[in-house]
Amino acid sequence: MKKVAFITGGGGFIGGATAITLAKAGIAVAVGDINRETVDRVVNVIRENGGDAIGLVYDVSNSAEVNEAVDTTVKNFGRLDIMVHVAGGSARLAGPGKYAHLVDQEDEVIDQVLKVNLYGAFYASRAAARVMIKQGEGGRIINFASTVGINGLAGAVDYAASKGGIMSFTKALAKELGPHKITVNAIAPGVVCRPEVDTTTPDGHHYAYETNFLGEKCTAEDIAYMVEYLASDKARMITGQTYVIDGGRALSMKGSD
Ligand SMILES: NC(=O)c1ccc[n+]([C@@H]2O[C@H](COP(=O)([O-])OP(=O)(O)OC[C@H]3O[C@@H](n4cnc5c(N)ncnc54)[C@H](O)[C@@H]3O)[C@@H](O)[C@H]2O)c1
Repeated sequence: MKKVAFITGGGGFIGGATAITLAKAGIAVAVGDINRETVDRVVNVIRENGGDAIGLVYDVSNSAEVNEAVDTTVKNFGRLDIMVHVAGGSARLAGPGKYAHLVDQEDEVIDQVLKVNLYGAFYASRAAARVMIKQGEGGRIINFASTVGINGLAGAVDYAASKGGIMSFTKALAKELGPHKITVNAIAPGVVCRPEVDTTTPDGHHYAYETNFLGEKCTAEDIAYMVEYLASDKARMITGQTYVIDGGRALSMKGSD
């Protein structure tokens, strides 16, 4: 029996790599995002490689849209085993130039960051858990935190709070869903360079890899492999945890933040 995964932010950098990685592992994937173009791109890559995928366009900060997307997934594939909420981001979600210290930040930006990152986890986890409980065969729920949720970052108080919230959410929901054999975990990446992000500092250094202890750039696949593991049967005894993937950067003393 083929397992089925519902992935939010599946058109994005890490979400796309996650969808493609899970599909390669033989999992049918519902690739969801607010961006139709990127969803189509990821679905096409999966299908061209012989995988099974559908594309869904919805706003993860709207619970009715998320419920409908989960329903469509179950109608299409007949079941749901894995939910991965990757959609998210910092103030950039509200547009360029929206980063600000809290004293200067606008309500709309705070709302959007919390709604996509944190409320999105509530909506997607709830909709998925309802299906998994009814199925009665356990399941996997994985949400995205960030090392910013652990250490904080000036100019990103909204983002830090949303990602810190994901870690607490993960612990509490793991306790609620444990009796149903549904595990709930989170992943906290450090710096994963999206192609559009230039990580060169004014003095010519590259903070993305010079500030971690391995001296390597973290790729989207480095994150996706952890999702693949947590989603697998091998991870059946792991729940309520947040996994940092950052080349040791959050250990500090070397990183600048
Ligand atoms: N890239 C990093 O360095 C890094 C570090 C720590 C945590 N993270 C987290 O990893 C996740 C993925 O980040 P990424 O770097 O791949 O970013 P990304 O921008 O490439 O992907 C995010 C995706 O979410 C989608 N999205 C945004 N708002 C949405 C909404 N309302 N409804 C549905 N989809 C929506 C976007 O269209 C995009 O495809 C995020 O939660 C981010 O906070 C990333």
